[in-house]
Amino acid sequence: MSEFEKKIAEYKSKIKSSSKIEEIDLLRSEVFGKNGIINLEFKKLVELPLEEKKSFAANLNKIKQELQDIYKTKSTEILDKDIIEKVEKEKIDITLPEKEFKIGKVHPVSQVIDEISCIFSEIGFSVEEGPDVENEYNNFTALNTPENHPAKDMHDTFYLDKDMKTMLRTHTSPVQVRTMLKGKPPFKIIAPGRTYRSDSDQTHTPMFHQLEGLHIDKGINMGHLKGCLNYFIKEFFEVNKIKMRFRPSHFPFTEPSAEVDIGYRMENNKIIIGEGDKWLEILGCGMVHPNVLKNCKVDSKKFQGFAFGIGIDRLAMLKYGINDLRSFFECDYRWLNHYGFDPLDVPTNYRGLSR
Ligand code: PHE
Repeated sequence: MSEFEKKIAEYKSKIKSSSKIEEIDLLRSEVFGKNGIINLEFKKLVELPLEEKKSFAANLNKIKQELQDIYKTKSTEILDKDIIEKVEKEKIDITLPEKEFKIGKVHPVSQVIDEISCIFSEIGFSVEEGPDVENEYNNFTALNTPENHPAKDMHDTFYLDKDMKTMLRTHTSPVQVRTMLKGKPPFKIIAPGRTYRSDSDQTHTPMFHQLEGLHIDKGINMGHLKGCLNYFIKEFFEVNKIKMRFRPSHFPFTEPSAEVDIGYRMENNKIIIGEGDKWLEILGCGMVHPNVLKNCKVDSKKFQGFAFGIGIDRLAMLKYGINDLRSFFECDYRWLNHYGFDPLDVPTNYRGLSR
């Protein structure tokens, strides 16, 4: 056996016995590379007499083809094995018990927004959103708020410019305007979000949350409003009986207007809903004023409806027995850990809103 044949036999067995892709790649360049043994052997061709050239080349090509076949089979085998090993390793055993990943908690305000959205979606309301920074038209003018209205006062509104044309929205009612201007009636929407007023005590914070409701269609009346709110409050507090009172009130954008209080009593520092003689105001509402419909390009002869604005934080306080509104926004981890909700317990109507 020639020196070359010995080497070829050696490489054949090396390729066959290799088990790693790096190993076999190295062998490939030693055999088939520019200075690999095959090429070096081919170079001998020039020195050979003419009659030998043909059979020499044919033989060498045969050897090269053989080696290439062996190489191909082996490398495919290694790659397949690697993939199978990787898949095996990445297998997740979903029957294993959960690890401690319940670190974060859902803030009561987020929880309550989810719960409310759930309740209203059940009776056909969809969810809309609007920006925190509003213009004067959407926040006041379109909502029929006269030039000298106290709500426009610097003491209540956070203005963002000297001309008092841009501001942090003082309520979610501008979303009514945005919704009506961009669509065609009927409208049946809720709009949760942040609102701002210059106010701070145990039940007021400069930033708070509201949820706007708007239902515009043919023949909607105050009875629908009452029925809707009655359904909502019962579902929200998960009780069969509630005490609710409508007090005549005034908003420039509704006529007639009412404020709704809900009855409760305290027992061992706990709030009991639906009994007792204490009242907490939770929302403002009324029939949408024809001027607002006109400003929003809705024909008030054909369409009418109701709107309401609920104080979300107040509802959270009542439902979850939290006494001081200011604590909601102090970002105290211990507080959140106590009052927060499990992120995996998403509120649904059929499984229960809060557990
Ligand atoms: N926007 C009113 C407020 O902030 C609440 C409200 C909304 C009243 C819709 C009537 C209708 O107090």
